[in-house]
Amino acid sequence: MNWEELSDYCNNCNRCALSQTRQHVVLGKGDLNAPILFVGEGPGAKEDEMGIPFVGQAGKLLDLALESIGFEANEYYVANVVKCRPPQNRVPLQEEIEACMPYLREQFKLLRPKIVVCLGSVASTALLGAECKVSVVRGTWTQRKGTYFTATYHPAALLRDDSKKLVMWQDLKAVKRKLEEIYGISGK
Ligand code: URA
Repeated sequence: MNWEELSDYCNNCNRCALSQTRQHVVLGKGDLNAPILFVGEGPGAKEDEMGIPFVGQAGKLLDLALESIGFEANEYYVANVVKCRPPQNRVPLQEEIEACMPYLREQFKLLRPKIVVCLGSVASTALLGAECKVSVVRGTWTQRKGTYFTATYHPAALLRDDSKKLVMWQDLKAVKRKLEEIYGISGK
């Protein structure tokens, strides 16, 4: 499957009830050859309206953090665990996550990222397994088949709790260092 086929599949998807209430499927954004894949939870109102992930308040915060650390646009791709907005921004149900997971797996296969960063507990639990408390797994690394997985707070959590900003910034700095390590550039 290529990106276009994946996009067609998703746009016609009705594997779960979220397809009944969505305005747009929100597949992902960013560089299709990027070494880093950020995975959020699911689209919010603005994302549903525009069909693009992380364009609302939380997304702006993520953009600011990435820019301040010096990530280049071609270094990352952003997607979500579920591609359609859960009504009232509720947490996606397990059955919705399972129905949508094949699409994230396809994105993973096409992108073949060196690093996956789970944003928040829904992504951490879906990708790292079990009940992942972000405060516990954040900043740690797991390597699976040549890809490094880590987690940090979801940017929306930072909007509610200022004290998490510095922690997320440190976690993202560690992602930058890991990337430099992988490519053999000496870290700062
Ligand atoms: N929150 C998410 O998890 N994903 C988005 O795309 C926007 C907000």
